[in-house]
Amino acid sequence: MIIVLIGYMGSGKSTIGKGLANVLSMNFLDLDSVIETSEKMTIHDIFKNYGEIYFRKKESELLRKVIKEQDNLILSLGGGTPCYSQNMVFLNETDKVTTLYLKPSINTLSERLFDEKAHRPIISHLASKDVLKEFIAKHLFERNAYYEQAHTVLNTDNCTVQETIERIVLELF
Ligand code: S3P
Repeated sequence: MIIVLIGYMGSGKSTIGKGLANVLSMNFLDLDSVIETSEKMTIHDIFKNYGEIYFRKKESELLRKVIKEQDNLILSLGGGTPCYSQNMVFLNETDKVTTLYLKPSINTLSERLFDEKAHRPIISHLASKDVLKEFIAKHLFERNAYYEQAHTVLNTDNCTVQETIERIVLELF
């Protein structure tokens, strides 16, 4: 079984993924880290040196490679992964995969992301909290169509990491 965590930047995919892997004695991988290791470059530098189209190509190639080669895995994706290269269709057509959308509110996302936007090329140029919040609202409106294709959608507002992990375990097993 591979549990794939999807959701917007700042939705807690990596933190929750690591905790969940621990509780379920499964392996954990973060697709962004897989890309950085494979390209020997940070995500920020891949965007800067080669642009987003190159990044999206590598992202979908490595997603397929990981899913093909691994099992007993929690995999957290990048915020944009479900929205390109038919990745959501690919995931939902793969029997051993279950997809789970972590869905905090726009307020929670903008509060979390403002302090950590520097290393995220998609939002690093947004100067104020208000502008960031408006950007997230519009962006989520576009991306939700892909995210909502997940097998399970979990509203995670007002939940600690531990509570979210417990809810995922209850939901999936
Ligand atoms: C992106 C999200 C990032 C990373 C890249 C693009 C996006 O991942 O893949 O910067 O398009 O939303 P996180 O969601 O882990 O920050």
